[in-house]
Amino acid sequence: MHNNDGMANISSSRPSNALKAVLPVAGLGTRFLPATKALPKEMLPVVDKPAIQYVVEEAVAAGLRDILMVTGRNKAPLENHFDRVPIVENLLLQKGDFARLDAVNHASNLADIHYVRQGNPLGLGHAVLRAWQHVGQAPFAVLLGDDIIGEGEGLLPHMLEQQATRGASIIALMEVDPEHVPMYGIAAVEPTSENDVVRVTGLVEKPSKEAAPSNLAIIGRYVLQPEIFPILEHTAPGRGNEIQLTDALQVLAADEKIAGGVYGVVFRGKRFDTGDRLDYLKAVVQIASGREDLGPDFTKWLTSFVKTLG
Ligand code: G1P
Repeated sequence: MHNNDGMANISSSRPSNALKAVLPVAGLGTRFLPATKALPKEMLPVVDKPAIQYVVEEAVAAGLRDILMVTGRNKAPLENHFDRVPIVENLLLQKGDFARLDAVNHASNLADIHYVRQGNPLGLGHAVLRAWQHVGQAPFAVLLGDDIIGEGEGLLPHMLEQQATRGASIIALMEVDPEHVPMYGIAAVEPTSENDVVRVTGLVEKPSKEAAPSNLAIIGRYVLQPEIFPILEHTAPGRGNEIQLTDALQVLAADEKIAGGVYGVVFRGKRFDTGDRLDYLKAVVQIASGREDLGPDFTKWLTSFVKTLG
């Protein structure tokens, strides 16, 4: 249904007991220059939606409607995307183009979105620390914008459930090709009695292939205990001279008594990385192929196109 009365925005501001979600979006997107000279990388379209909208939709689908974006310089288009845009809405209404009107309103009514500036880009850990005031003393989720998790995979709900039952911090892990471990935070783990849930005994940010304790990589989903904040406050710059979330989590992982330790949910579903040009292209092709409206025509063309290649 198209909703043009703005009520969803007002009612969404009501306090709720659901956890808050934090989306760090202050990154410069240097891997996509020159496209990201004036456009935030989170606004790059994945088919017909900006990458960040998939992430917001995932949080909302898991029941998290209070979203804090940690932004920085040149991120205004991102903020505008989640605002209403009466001039466009009226135009579509006059034309009777209700399908597009729904799509436009959907983005503006999705969630209750708040913004805080990072001010000084000192790393992911620093960005998360900027959420302390908004989050307070409750567990919260962190979703990184470069990772898109396939719709309906249930990763975040599983993590929220684990957080609630274990009273611990939960990270999403995925097995990666050992050649790729230097691109990720990597976990040392031991099994639990539950399938695909592991106890994290150690974490290292972007180790060499030789130094990596496993090939289980942190993918960009976390449900964290608020005890992470005072730890982040005292975390010294690490890899890349940045304040690393992984280093603060290592403190929690090392001592279960602080805040229940750290557990990992091992994810085996669909994950699309939009942070790198090649992976971004793969994400667009896969997501377009799976779409009900575009998929059949697109895959037909793709199949014949592939045959023309060497
Ligand atoms: C960040 C984290 C890293 C994690 C990765 C997932 O790195 O620091 O631990 O594995 O996200 O995408 P970034 O990709 O921002 O360099």
